[in-house]
Amino acid sequence: YAQKTDKFMGEIVNYDETTVPKYNLPDLLKNPKGERVKNISTWEKKRRPEILSLFEENIYGTMPSKFDSLNFKITNEKADAMDGKAHLKEIEITAWNKGNSVSFPVVLFIPNKRTKPAPVFLLINNRGKRNTDPTRISKSTFWPAEMIIDSGYAIAAFHNADVAPDRKETYQNGILTQLFPEQLQKDNGMKAIGSWAWAASRVMDYFISDKDIDAKKVAIVGHSRGGKTALWAGAQDQRFAMVFNSCSGSTGASLARRKYGETVSLINKQFGHWFNNNYKKFSNNVDSLPVDQHMLIGLIAPRPVYTTNATQDRWADPYGSFLSSVNAKPIYDLYRQKVTLPKDMPQINRPIINSAIGYHFREGAHDLNVYDWTNFIRFANFNYAVKN
Ligand code: GCU
Repeated sequence: YAQKTDKFMGEIVNYDETTVPKYNLPDLLKNPKGERVKNISTWEKKRRPEILSLFEENIYGTMPSKFDSLNFKITNEKADAMDGKAHLKEIEITAWNKGNSVSFPVVLFIPNKRTKPAPVFLLINNRGKRNTDPTRISKSTFWPAEMIIDSGYAIAAFHNADVAPDRKETYQNGILTQLFPEQLQKDNGMKAIGSWAWAASRVMDYFISDKDIDAKKVAIVGHSRGGKTALWAGAQDQRFAMVFNSCSGSTGASLARRKYGETVSLINKQFGHWFNNNYKKFSNNVDSLPVDQHMLIGLIAPRPVYTTNATQDRWADPYGSFLSSVNAKPIYDLYRQKVTLPKDMPQINRPIINSAIGYHFREGAHDLNVYDWTNFIRFANFNYAVKN
């Protein structure tokens, strides 16, 4: 039934499993000298930082670690939002560096029915502010806030374009020009995805300051380009307790070397403003990339990570995302975290929940919806309970 190839931007897009090339994945646990990582300490002190800097250098760009100051301002608050079920806080985060500043808004609902600080899901919203309406006049299955509140979690969101516009002509007009202009001068400097991940970490800074939030239980969530960002944010900033990526596809959870659906070449052509300049060198040479995306999931270990795909979204290479998850398992084994992924692709609508690496392949379109969130909650419930 399904077409095996397609043409896009002058390239053939492969949708045929039988023509996926043979490839060798870089070994997560072997350093460039061929020495094997045998314990957590070598992983954390040597191999993990090495892999992290390979991702910075070759794909997402360097993450600035310093800036002058940060300020949080509550711009609106309602203790009885959602018919009394939740406490709404709208926060404006302002970051300063060398005399310039950038501000961006965050929406946060905290459940009123609770005995302790609340765990929270933070969405990197890449689909417009209507999805995260603080008045709740407009509701969206992309961010089903009432449902999350009912399950005992707080829910928050910020809009990616508030810190870096999602356009190749204007992505600089946010934190890059204002706070980190040096990033724009370097081939390994971060661009849009790095900027969005940086902002997620500033929201994390805010959570630490809010006594109604359990900052040890902050899950970062993103869909598609937001999912790529959630993975990068979770890899970079180990304060995030959990990572959820929905249909993150190329340069998210999917293996680059499979060349199935969107390739490195196509993503660089269409969305060059997401990644650093160095990434362009691999457009026609993915096998020379020193990393592949299973290593990005490996950087999140031992923290739980959940990936989703959808049947109608072959562009994102569902099987390639599943394989990334499976290939990240050795790091979770090192930490003795239980991973119960099967060897073969799970059946449609059969989520793998009771596992430190979770996955589901959902029926339907490229999206983030109530089915996905329902399973995010189940996965979070399971993994937070396992830890306690
Ligand atoms: C495009 C892009 C994908 C991306 C998606 C999205 O389809 O090619 O890489 O994930 O947009 O963000 O929805």
